[in-house]
Amino acid sequence: MRIILLGVPGAGKGTQARFICDVFHIPLISTGDMLRNAINAGTELGGEVKEIISAGALVSDDIIIDLVKERISQSDCENGFLFDGFPRTIPQADALYKTGIKIDYIVEICVEDEEVVTRLSGRRIHPESGRTYHVVYNPPKIAEKDDLTGEDLIQRADDNKAVIRERLRIYYNQTQPLVNYYQSLSDVHEEKDVPQLICIQGKGTVEDIKEEVLRALGK
Ligand code: AP5
Repeated sequence: MRIILLGVPGAGKGTQARFICDVFHIPLISTGDMLRNAINAGTELGGEVKEIISAGALVSDDIIIDLVKERISQSDCENGFLFDGFPRTIPQADALYKTGIKIDYIVEICVEDEEVVTRLSGRRIHPESGRTYHVVYNPPKIAEKDDLTGEDLIQRADDNKAVIRERLRIYYNQTQPLVNYYQSLSDVHEEKDVPQLICIQGKGTVEDIKEEVLRALGK
C-alpha cells in the first residue's frame, strides 16, 4: 500500500496519517517531521532549512527529493509507505514518477482556510514523536504534556497566523496543482497503473474523519 496525503496545512494530514499507518502497517514518511528532526539535531541540513521553515516557505526540491529517495530505499518501505507532505511541487511529483514506484491512493483532505487558522493556532506537538494535539479539539490528557511520555508539548515556530497565511498561499500556488497533475495521468495511462484519487471533507471530529478515510481505503 503506497499512499500520498494531500491537503492544506492544518487539514489533519499528520493526525490521520498515524491511524492509516497503524492499520496498514506501513511507515509514515513526513518530510516536515524529517526536516524538523534535522533542525532539532543541529545537523547541517537543519541549519540550512531552519529559517525557510519558520517563514513558511518551501525547502528546495533538490534537498527534498534526495531526502525522500534515501528514505524509501530503506528496507521498511519495501511493502509500502505513506507520504505526508510530499510531493509538494510538480518537480517533486515528477521525480517520484520517474522512480517508477506505483502509488495506490492519493487522499486529499479538504478543509476551509478559516478552520485551518483555528486548528493550527491551537496545535501542540510532541517534538520527539511528532504526536499532535489541539488545545480544544484534540486535547492531551494533561494540559501541555504528551499522553504517552508526559514530556512537554511545544508550539511549532510556523504556527502563527501570518506564517499560516503564507503557507496557505504557497499551498494553493505550488501544491494544489498536483490534483490536476494526478488526474491527468489517467488520461494517458490505464486505470490500474495510476493512483486512485480520494477526496475527503475534513470538517468533523478526528474520529469521524478517520472512519471516512479508512472506509475509502477499503478498511
Ligand atoms: P509539514 O510539516 O508537512 O506541514 P504542513 O503541510 O503545513 O501540514 P501541517 O503539519 O501543518 O498540518 P497537518 O495537515 O498535518 O495537520 P495536523 O494533523 O497536524 O511542513 C512544514 C514545513 O516543512 C513546510 O512549510 C516547508 O517549509 C517544509 N516542507 C515539508 N515538506 C516539504 C516538501 N515536500 N517540499 C518543500 N518543503 C517542505 O492537524 C492540525 C491541528 O488540527 C492539530 O492541532 C490537530 O490536533 C487538529 N485537528 C486535526 N484533525 C482535526 C479535526 N478533524 N477537527 C479539529 N481539529 C483537528
